[in-house]
Amino acid sequence: MTKILVTGGNGQLGNSINSIKDKYSNLEITFTDIDSLDICNIDDIEKFVHQNKFQYIVNCAAYTAVDKAESEENLATKINATAVENLAIVAKNNNCKLINVSTDYVFDGNAHKPYIEDDNTEPTSVYGKTKLKGEQLAFASKAECINIRTSWLYSEFGNNFVKTMIKLGTERDQLGIVWDQVGTPTYAVDLAKAILDIIESTSSGEKEFQSGIYHYSNEGVASWYDFTINIHQIYDINCDVTPIETKEYPTPAPRPCYSVLNKAKIKNVYSITIPHWRNSLERCIESIKAEQ
Ligand SMILES: NC(=O)c1ccc[n+]([C@@H]2O[C@H](COP(=O)([O-])OP(=O)(O)OC[C@H]3O[C@@H](n4cnc5c(N)ncnc54)[C@H](OP(=O)(O)O)[C@@H]3O)[C@@H](O)[C@H]2O)c1
Repeated sequence: MTKILVTGGNGQLGNSINSIKDKYSNLEITFTDIDSLDICNIDDIEKFVHQNKFQYIVNCAAYTAVDKAESEENLATKINATAVENLAIVAKNNNCKLINVSTDYVFDGNAHKPYIEDDNTEPTSVYGKTKLKGEQLAFASKAECINIRTSWLYSEFGNNFVKTMIKLGTERDQLGIVWDQVGTPTYAVDLAKAILDIIESTSSGEKEFQSGIYHYSNEGVASWYDFTINIHQIYDINCDVTPIETKEYPTPAPRPCYSVLNKAKIKNVYSITIPHWRNSLERCIESIKAEQ
């Protein structure tokens, strides 16, 4: 059995890993969240990891309130940067491998082709800066670490864009949604599968654990406007959605206008197959409807 610690277990990605864990009979996964293991407390992490002899840590814990981070830089830095360093130090001390999750917001969004892992980072928001700092501190600790950048994460768990658009589309006749920001939606359950597949193949020796940065999103490209139209079509919501420009919807934190990620590296190194975002959206909405 491979012993895995998943931090931030109550979040979207943590819940997504929990929802598919039974398909991996060789993996024994322990889920914690801030109440049971605060990743800001290095002594607690060290004690817990040492006692339980985990072989992998998957960090799903994060400060994810992108706009609020603009006025809470210290707290965001503590959780997204210093705490990631804590996990990396403990992982190194205990001969454990770390899989950390980061974001497309490490880029400024001025590119015209999908970002590869080596592209220059230039975060424009506090959230993006703190997540980038976390990546850098993890690698500086010399822990064995896979850092996966993802984008536009949604799922049937917690609050996210898909659930908000279902709610607003049901309540209102008309919505204006930004069309000049382009990226790729990512179903958290697909990312969860990619993470557990990597652990399964590297713990069995079938693949080598290769530290480094990797990009993962679903396949394809969309604007928030396209994404919303598809959410409403699949859910069967009748709402008039009109495209608006970013300047018509100002937010405290600037968003990258282009954040499509190139996923060739993760597909090649770990033989991961990735579904198209529209197919994944259908599966997520099926699951949301089943719960209602
Ligand atoms: N959501 C997106 O669109 C998106 C896009 C790109 C990348 N990402 C990245 O993907 C990862 C997963 O995101 P997500 O959407 O699953 O996040 P999420 O739903 O916000 O979950 C994060 C979890 O971390 C917990 N947490 C916060 N501080 C903690 C601490 N000190 N110790 C332990 N747990 C703590 C939170 O607990 P509380 O709720 O109690 O605070 C929450 O359960 C994150 O690294 C995020 O930065 C997300």
